[in-house]
Amino acid sequence: MSQRSAPPDDPQAEAEDPVTGEPGAIVYSDVHKAFGDFKVLKGLDLIIPRGKITVIIGRSGTGKSVTMKHVMGLLRCDKGNIWVGKDELTSMGDRRLRKVRDRFGIVFQHAALFDSMNVFDNICFPLREHTRMSNREMKAKVTDLLGLVGLSGTETRMPSELSGGMKKRVGLARALARDPEFLLYDEPTTGLDPILSAAMDELIVTTHKAKPGLTSVIISHDIRAVMHIADKMVMLYEGVVYDEGTPEHFETSDDALIKQFIAGSLIGPMSV
Ligand SMILES: Nc1ncnc2c1ncn2[C@@H]1O[C@H](COP(=O)(O)OP(=O)(O)OP(=O)(O)O)[C@@H](O)[C@H]1O
Ligand SMILES: [Mg+2]
Repeated sequence: MSQRSAPPDDPQAEAEDPVTGEPGAIVYSDVHKAFGDFKVLKGLDLIIPRGKITVIIGRSGTGKSVTMKHVMGLLRCDKGNIWVGKDELTSMGDRRLRKVRDRFGIVFQHAALFDSMNVFDNICFPLREHTRMSNREMKAKVTDLLGLVGLSGTETRMPSELSGGMKKRVGLARALARDPEFLLYDEPTTGLDPILSAAMDELIVTTHKAKPGLTSVIISHDIRAVMHIADKMVMLYEGVVYDEGTPEHFETSDDALIKQFIAGSLIGPMSV
């Protein structure tokens, strides 16, 4: 594993995103990651703009979740550099990496709630683990968060009593509990019907607007579901960024691969 250390004020960390003109909150530079002989990331260069909503699209298995797991400290890259603000991750030890991870809220593909805990305890879990908040403060926080995600009054419900869409909302409330600087959504609409998907998209936008300075990243293979909420879209393919731009750029693209992906067509350069 190459551990090229970078000075904390490396200019890469201040790279400007060409799509939005905003500074890069997360910057990947020539990132490589393989599992055994299987190369997933093959020199990824990617800028996630600060304070914006970035949508990362790409086929199943293309490395979207792997890309995000690097900034959460769950995976280490084999080569390259990754900055979160001014912090360069590849040169960091585990303890500092955990501190960076604390700046992230994550909404998982399958809600990942604790089945034995009610809604209140699920949301409080990160607060109990990481803060010294009083019960009264926690109660106020949970009331606020449930209001934000449209689930006021559900504190005592168990996950088994919630629909898939409600579980995702609780997952979002939990991800927001510690006021993260970054919010990552991994396939937030998977498993939801079209109406619930649209409601989740709206909630992502509402949440983003309600938290000034929040940088949101959404991973999705359901391009049409998330396209209209993106400030920036990135398409991963074959371990690199294939293209990036505004939603309009993708919608009007003449590129055969992008057109096939957006249309969800079996006919085109991408094979099944
Ligand atoms: N810990 C791991 N060990 C071995 N292989 C892995 C590991 N994590 C991911 N992979 C492989 O890396 C590739 C990319 O996985 P990743 O989960 O990033 O895909 P994805 O783009 O998120 O797909 P999906 O849209 O289905 O969620 C896959 O082929 C996967 O099997
Ligand atoms: Mg994934």
